[in-house]
Amino acid sequence: MTRIITITNQKGGVGKTTTAVHLAHGLALKGKKVLLVDLDAQAQAGIALHVPPADGAFYLLTMEVKRSATAFIREQMAEVRPNWQLLPASPRLSGVEHALPSPSVSWLAESLGRFEGAYDYVILDTAPTIGRLQVLAIWAADWVIIPAAPEPLSANSIQKVLRTMRSLKDEQAWQGGLFGILPTMYRERVREHATTLAEYRRHFGDALVLSPIHLAARLAECPAFGQTVFEHAPNDRAADEYRRLVNTVLKAR
Ligand SMILES: Nc1ncnc2c1ncn2[C@@H]1O[C@H](COP(=O)(O)OP(=O)(O)O)[C@@H](O)[C@H]1O
Ligand SMILES: [Mg+2]
Repeated sequence: MTRIITITNQKGGVGKTTTAVHLAHGLALKGKKVLLVDLDAQAQAGIALHVPPADGAFYLLTMEVKRSATAFIREQMAEVRPNWQLLPASPRLSGVEHALPSPSVSWLAESLGRFEGAYDYVILDTAPTIGRLQVLAIWAADWVIIPAAPEPLSANSIQKVLRTMRSLKDEQAWQGGLFGILPTMYRERVREHATTLAEYRRHFGDALVLSPIHLAARLAECPAFGQTVFEHAPNDRAADEYRRLVNTVLKAR
């Protein structure tokens, strides 16, 4: 069975793409078959892996579920590492909402259904807005991960994602759920960070606040090399922290 995991937060620069890339690679390193779909017109996932922007995600969203279309979409994938395919994004994604072949909230889920059985995990990286595409990506998800910097104002953007999730559950029979809030760029010496993390735990519950990813120079360097931290600095704390997230996902059911 394929698990679909959507990484989302309407805020930019909170580590969504970094998390999507590292979750994808970490799962692939564990022998899982992984597809990472970049749903952000800025194509940052590809850029981080030195894969040029391309229309793969655009075709996933606009082509009917037919064998010939599916074969064509597969051709747009980049095999970035063993077990790990990337379906890249491009500026064509902006405005794609208006070119979808179906108005249904389940359209992206249906479109991904064409790959059923081919992957153990499909990771959806999203753009920093809450538009139609994010809603489709959340509806397609079994699990949602919300990366968030531990700053007081982040709680607002988390709440917005949670509200969207709640209304999808109540009104659109969405079956998925929150996997967790992932505190990113965490610095324990910054009092505000420690306080905010404690508040998250109190407010959202310990179980839904994942162990934080610290601010890590090694992580920020990765895109320059087209590598993940598992390659660039496998002994860095950030590598351990993302491995831990991967293990949490592997254990979940
Ligand atoms: N834990 C971290 N420590 C340091 N830098 C990080 C961390 N996570 C992400 N970054 C860097 O911060 C920037 C924004 O991260 P990114 O994952 O692209 O965020 P988003 O996708 O939410 O916009 C990138 O340059 C990335 O390399
Ligand atoms: Mg991003």
